[in-house]
Amino acid sequence: MSRVTLSRYLIEQTRNHDTPADLRFLVEVVARACKAISHAVSKGALGGVLGNAGTDNVQGEAQKKLDVISNEILLEANEWGGHLAAMASEEMEEAYQIPGRYPKGAYLLLFDPLDGSSNIDVNVSVGTIFSVLRCPEGTETPSEASFLQAGTEQVCAGYAIYGPQTMLVLTLGNGVKGFTLDREMGSFVLTHESMTVPESTKEFAINMSNQRHWETPVSRYVAEMQAGATGALGKDYNMRWIASMVADVHRILTRGGIFMYPRDAREPEKPGKLRLMYEANPMSLIIEQAGGAATNGHQRILDIQPESLHQRVAVFLGSKEEVERITSYHHHS
Ligand code: AHG
Ligand code: MN
Ligand code: MN
Ligand code: MN
Repeated sequence: MSRVTLSRYLIEQTRNHDTPADLRFLVEVVARACKAISHAVSKGALGGVLGNAGTDNVQGEAQKKLDVISNEILLEANEWGGHLAAMASEEMEEAYQIPGRYPKGAYLLLFDPLDGSSNIDVNVSVGTIFSVLRCPEGTETPSEASFLQAGTEQVCAGYAIYGPQTMLVLTLGNGVKGFTLDREMGSFVLTHESMTVPESTKEFAINMSNQRHWETPVSRYVAEMQAGATGALGKDYNMRWIASMVADVHRILTRGGIFMYPRDAREPEKPGKLRLMYEANPMSLIIEQAGGAATNGHQRILDIQPESLHQRVAVFLGSKEEVERITSYHHHS
C-alpha cells in the first residue's frame, strides 16, 4: 500500500470531511515549523541551542534558548500565509498580531512552542503543543478576549514530540492520527491510523515531590493506587513521570494511563501548573477524541470558560475509568 503523507491525509480530509482549505494549509505550516524545531532540537550542543536564554517569560519561568527559538520558528512560519488572524504563545505576554504587510485569515493559533523545557539539556523528549480556534467574526484586531473560547470550540489540536522519533499527533475533530517524520524524505507519514486510550489502566503519572501540597481527593487516590492489589482498587499500579507533558500524554495515547497535575496548596490563586489554552485544552481534545477523558477534578476541561490567556488549570486526563474515579473523589470530599 502506498504511504499516506500528512499532505495527502489533509487533502482527503478536505474532500471527505469538509475540512476548509485554509485550515489544511494552517496544519501544513505548523507541521513544517515542527520539522524545523525538531531539527534545532536534534542539534543539541553542536548547534549551540542548549541552556538558558537569560530571560523570563510571563509565567515567571526562566526561558531556555530553545523556548525562544521554537517560538520564533512558529511565528515566522505562520505570519505570512494569510490563514491566521493572530497568535498566542506561552512565551509571549500578549497576543501576536499579524504584521500589516500580510493578509489576515480566519483562525487563531495558540501554542506551547517547546514543552518539557526542563528536559532539553538532559536529552529527554520534548515537544510542541498547538490549538486552533476560529477568530470571532468581524474582529479587526484580535484582542485577548478573542482567544477566550472554551476548548470545545477548538477546530484542531495537535502536538509534535521530539523523541527517538519525531511524531505529529493530530485531531481535526474526527479521531486522532499519528504521523512519523521520515527524515530522509522530509515528510510526515501516517503511521498511527487511529490512536485510542484504553478505558482502564494500571499506570499513573504525577510529580510525587509535590505530595505534601495535594488536596485530599488526590492524596486518597494516589494512596489507593500505591496500596496495590490488596487495596481498594484491587490492582498493582506502575508509575511514570517524564516531566514533558507531550511525552507523558503520548505514552497514555499509546498504552493507557492517567496523567495528573493537580492544584497546588502553595499557590491557591494558581489552580495547577499547566496552562489551559496552550496545554490542557489541546491535550484534552486529543485525549477525548481518542476515547479518554479530561477534567480539572470538578468539570470537563473543554467546558471551562477561559478568563485569561495564561490561565492555569488542574489537569486529570487519560483512561476514562481512572479520570472518572479521581473526579468523583473531588465531588465527594
Ligand atoms: P513547559 O516546559 O512548556 O513550561 O511545560 C512544563 C510542564 C509540562 O511539560 C510537564 O508536565 C510539567 O511542566 C513538569 O512539571 P514538574 O517540573 O513539576 O515535573
Ligand atoms: Mn515553560
Ligand atoms: Mn508545556
Ligand atoms: Mn513550553
